[in-house]
Amino acid sequence: MALVLAGFVLCLSGLPLILAADYPTYVAAVYEHRVLLNPNPIVPLNRSSALEHMKQNLRVYEEQTALAAQQGAQIIVFPEDGILGFFFTRASIAGYLEAIPDPQKVTWSPCADPLRFPDTEVLHNLSCMALKNRLFLVANMPSRLSCNRTVDPHCPADGQYQFNTNVVFNDQGVIVARYHKQNLYFELSFDTPPECEYVTFNTPFAGRFGTFTCFDILFRDPAVTLVTEMGIRQIVFTTAWMNKLPLLAAIEFQRAFSYGTNITLLAANTHSTKYGMTGSGIFTPWDSLTYHDAKGDSGKLLVRRVPVLDPSFIGDNNHKLVYPSSNESEKMHVWPTSSFNANRDGKYCRKVSESAEGASSNIFNSIMMSDNFTLVPLQGTEGNISVCSGLVCCHLLFRRSDTPELYALGVFNGLHRVYYLEICALMRCTGQEQSSCGQGTEYAETLVDFRLTGTFVTRHVYPGILGSGMTVDIPDHSGWESENQLYMSRTGMSTGLVTAMLYGRNYEKDHVKKCA
Ligand SMILES: *[C@@H]1O[C@H](CO)[C@@H](O)[C@H](O)[C@H]1NC(C)=O
Ligand SMILES: *[C@@H]1O[C@H](CO)[C@@H](O)[C@H](O)[C@H]1NC(C)=O
Ligand SMILES: *[C@@H]1O[C@H](CO)[C@@H](O)[C@H](O)[C@H]1NC(C)=O
Ligand SMILES: *[C@@H]1O[C@H](CO)[C@@H](O)[C@H](O)[C@H]1NC(C)=O
Ligand SMILES: *[C@@H]1O[C@H](CO)[C@@H](O)[C@H](O)[C@H]1NC(C)=O
Ligand SMILES: *[C@@H]1O[C@H](CO)[C@@H](O)[C@H](O)[C@H]1NC(C)=O
Ligand SMILES: *[C@@H]1O[C@H](CO)[C@@H](O)[C@H](O)[C@H]1NC(C)=O
Repeated sequence: MALVLAGFVLCLSGLPLILAADYPTYVAAVYEHRVLLNPNPIVPLNRSSALEHMKQNLRVYEEQTALAAQQGAQIIVFPEDGILGFFFTRASIAGYLEAIPDPQKVTWSPCADPLRFPDTEVLHNLSCMALKNRLFLVANMPSRLSCNRTVDPHCPADGQYQFNTNVVFNDQGVIVARYHKQNLYFELSFDTPPECEYVTFNTPFAGRFGTFTCFDILFRDPAVTLVTEMGIRQIVFTTAWMNKLPLLAAIEFQRAFSYGTNITLLAANTHSTKYGMTGSGIFTPWDSLTYHDAKGDSGKLLVRRVPVLDPSFIGDNNHKLVYPSSNESEKMHVWPTSSFNANRDGKYCRKVSESAEGASSNIFNSIMMSDNFTLVPLQGTEGNISVCSGLVCCHLLFRRSDTPELYALGVFNGLHRVYYLEICALMRCTGQEQSSCGQGTEYAETLVDFRLTGTFVTRHVYPGILGSGMTVDIPDHSGWESENQLYMSRTGMSTGLVTAMLYGRNYEKDHVKKCA
């Protein structure tokens, strides 16, 4: 379902969950916040001016927390940098920093005991919001931590770390988790923590959650380790994500990560039209509620009831899990060749103009999101095409409605700056020229039924589907056909297809500091 209201899109998509009476659920909220910026972030502010600035944002947090609570929310997530904005320097951010005591060592409710630690006005304010509204609250804020250069070789010269930090309060206002962002994205004001942190917290309503921030979602640590090794199936995700089509729009990748790892992702993005930041959502493996508005200038609260996925919580409570009917999904598991020539609603009339082998002679290269993709155009209204780069091979079986829009199947197998990608992507090109393949567009008219298969070296592949008007979708079916071959299929989408991707990450080949 998509409600298109005055230029922005609010979507409920995917298979509807069947919630049994005894199925444990909870109500989650995420707030996409239009951050009120410091117009000159490189000029240092004293503490009282920095607080004045942050309070403008906190006032909005307070209103939205109350609105979420009124709708029954038990947890609310606010975005990365939402309290102060971005582009500070290490020196200019000083007035904004608070020292957050380690919740593993200190049990502290700043609201109940505001004077226990100095200069903690922001913590106090957030803690009171959580307590007053009786919900768990997740916020991102800048923090400092003193260190000693004699004993800690990583300790910065000025004797303190400065961290991009997620802080989690329980419904009593007590700080229950503190996470320092591991994978910084050109953030001059912050330090990388000396050791990788895998941070989780427990809730009485849904069991365990993990947390990480923005760029972290593209790396093994802590994101993939939390999910695949520590068994965390619910993640609160703060982000300040600049949309980058065709593969890395915020909700597009959030959807792909949640689907690909089979977890719930509560994702709150900062809203800034100036920096192209928008796209938040509540994602279960089966469906999602999303928000994306690249033009408007306001925030957005999303509230939704979702099933508990923590296996130990479900076990503890003797609840039964009921998953969505897979009848729909099974339908297109295998595409029989015979059905391929079927004239569905008269949309697929034009026959394939060239043989599959013929297509390989049309291979071209195009730079997409700074990477040199190898592509092959789709020709005719149906076909079976392949394109390879080294060991990564992509196969596409498709049929499409007859429109002039150009589509291509692309492969990339290589290092993107410091991280290694293995990608198969079917995308709509923005024009008729091959060089337009890989440029971003939010719209497409062409209805495409497809089965996309990739041969990968990595096992970490995130399947993503983006429909026209920034609607996220999930495959009808996907899975490993053999040890190194993953497929996904989707037919009967109601919107044009913008992108279908198998976004593989080969973490082993990354050029980043490895976590122990
Ligand atoms: C902080 O800076 C503001 C603006 O420059 C100034 O008006 C104020 O007096 C300063 N406060 C303190 C405590 O220094
Ligand atoms: C938080 O700060 C805002 C802005 O100054 C203020 O209006 C509000 O009363 C504070 N809330 C709490 C609970 O401290
Ligand atoms: C740093 O650690 C050393 C060795 O334990 C100690 O002698 C020194 O006093 C510490 N410095 C500070 C500033 O705490
Ligand atoms: C996803 O998780 C559910 C349990 O929550 C499980 O039944 C299902 O098999 C998982 N799917 C995959 C593809 O691992
Ligand atoms: C799934 O299909 C089977 C057989 O076609 C049918 O009996 C069953 O009711 C269907 N389940 C749902 C949930 O639609
Ligand atoms: C598509 O091509 C692949 C590889 O060339 C082949 O294995 C498969 O059978 C073909 N499928 C159809 C439906 O033609
Ligand atoms: C992209 O790769 C192709 C094939 O290796 C090469 O011919 C082309 O020059 C590359 N393009 C750019 C811009 O590097």
